[in-house]
Amino acid sequence: MQEQLKSMEAEALARLAEVQDLTALEEWRTGYLGRKGRLAQILRGLGQLPPEARPAAGQAANEVKRRLEAAFEARRGALEEAATAAAFRAEQVDVTLPGRPPALGRLHLSTQTLRETSAIFAHMGFEAYETPEVETDELNFQALNIPPHHPARDMWSTFYTDREGVVLRTHTSPGQVRLMRERYPAEIRAILPGKVYRYEQVSARYEFQLHQVEGLAVGRNIHMSDLKGVLVAFAQQMFQGMRRWRFRGSYFPFTEPSFEMDIECVLCGGGGCRVCKYSGWVEILGAGMVHPVVLQNGGYDPAAYSGFAFGMGTERITMLKYGIDDIRYFFSNNPRFLEQFG
Ligand code: DAH
Repeated sequence: MQEQLKSMEAEALARLAEVQDLTALEEWRTGYLGRKGRLAQILRGLGQLPPEARPAAGQAANEVKRRLEAAFEARRGALEEAATAAAFRAEQVDVTLPGRPPALGRLHLSTQTLRETSAIFAHMGFEAYETPEVETDELNFQALNIPPHHPARDMWSTFYTDREGVVLRTHTSPGQVRLMRERYPAEIRAILPGKVYRYEQVSARYEFQLHQVEGLAVGRNIHMSDLKGVLVAFAQQMFQGMRRWRFRGSYFPFTEPSFEMDIECVLCGGGGCRVCKYSGWVEILGAGMVHPVVLQNGGYDPAAYSGFAFGMGTERITMLKYGIDDIRYFFSNNPRFLEQFG
């Protein structure tokens, strides 16, 4: 039996040296050391030996077993180490590579212009005041001197709602009355920025949503000259390099007198281009002295107080400033447009 054990051990060790992975190693273990393995088979012959030969044979078998187990453990250690090393090699990362920069967002172009507008007026002492986008018919029209069924309503294509007397505001002007009612009898210097809605067929020139910035000053000695000065100061900062401007008489129900302000087309310098429709001039806002009826609706006595107001479209200002020829770009969420600014 000792001979048998010896040759089995030699064979087992030779095989073990050939084992290259943990699966093969486990097969080797069951083959030689398992319950039905080679060692167990040999030991089954122990019973046939004469009793006096059994202890020596048994001891020899135990020693073989111990040596094979030790060899097995050593091989397993080496294979596991190699497997770990291979995994490390495969999953290696170069921590010295530069990272991927996170995609940074930016302010929407309209927001940029709104903030620029607010900053310019803040320097002239105007606070920014926001009022609701869902407005009453009363404030959006009637308090602004536009009675029901008055033809002036046609100036605004309106989104009416299921609620009688509730509309999406068509302009920021109703904020004038809200602010006056809140502040009376204090003087007012404010801009009212925000979104407005129009029931329009969308095209390069018309959107159903846009931003406006309203302006309102109410006090005891406010004159048209104050209004003109404020508007020119604004335009000079918003349109750097603007050389000429003009005030053109106009009509709005809530101002009297009313006018519109044009500036020399900043894109062609007044020579004429597509943006100014070859006139050299572009309209940037409407304005006027607050109508006595509106002052009264705000709680101010028109005999003691006067005021000026103006209103501009933020997208229009932005289009003129950057030469953008289609208002639909602003709300179509196209990053290729938005990423060009800011
Ligand atoms: N609310 C007018 C509009 O949406 C713009 C406007 C014109 C506002 C003249 C004013 C103003 O405050 O005085 O068309």
